[in-house]
Amino acid sequence: MRFLITAGPTREPLDPVRYLSNRSSGKMGYAIAEASLEAGHEVVLISGPVGINRPRGAAVIPISTSDEMFDAVHQQARNCDILVMCAAVADYKPAKVSKSKIKKRDGNLSFDLIPTRDILASLPKNRKYIVVGFAAETENVETNALEKLREKNCDIVVANDVSRADSGMESDENEVTILFRGGEIKKISRAPKKIVARELIKIFANVCEKRLTKKIA
Ligand code: CTP
Repeated sequence: MRFLITAGPTREPLDPVRYLSNRSSGKMGYAIAEASLEAGHEVVLISGPVGINRPRGAAVIPISTSDEMFDAVHQQARNCDILVMCAAVADYKPAKVSKSKIKKRDGNLSFDLIPTRDILASLPKNRKYIVVGFAAETENVETNALEKLREKNCDIVVANDVSRADSGMESDENEVTILFRGGEIKKISRAPKKIVARELIKIFANVCEKRLTKKIA
């Protein structure tokens, strides 16, 4: 199967030396890419700036801003069987990017932020590939994740509680709840991201296979 995986944060520039970003390390997305390759799948990895070696055998497309990630996903999605949107895409970006370095002045400084485009929500409703969204939550994990599944028209949402220090963002371990479009819910208990990734890959490939056999029958 052909996996298209996004990973890591995006960076939204303020001026030539500063940007807005988030704590995403890219570890979960890279672990999913490694696990997909290990299982014999083809992988295209669209990656924000991270400090991890590129997985051997994956085609890596490096991006920095949410707009670059938007374009890369739209270009690549038509050639995949499963899109896994693991990246922590910025929700807002500065309304203006200063061409020169913003100089220090007395007093407060404030910026206007404008919404970025939501990549998942922008995908065509009628599509051939499976779409997996991620939900990073600090409260009401399942309720919020279910809302994202519906609003962003995903087939699957993988939710994790990012308020915990021992799993989720930056950590080497994760614990996730998987919500399916049909209402089913599965949990993977706390384990190294590598192990969680292997389980996730099996689940995604299974859903994809079922979809394909249904279409052929
Ligand atoms: N996502 C996206 N485009 C964006 C922002 C997020 O495609 N501009 C995707 C992420 O890659 C993830 C999912 O949407 O798969 C949910 O991201 P998350 O940050 O949990 O949720 P948000 O939609 O940003 O909502 P909130 O921050 O309010 O929880």
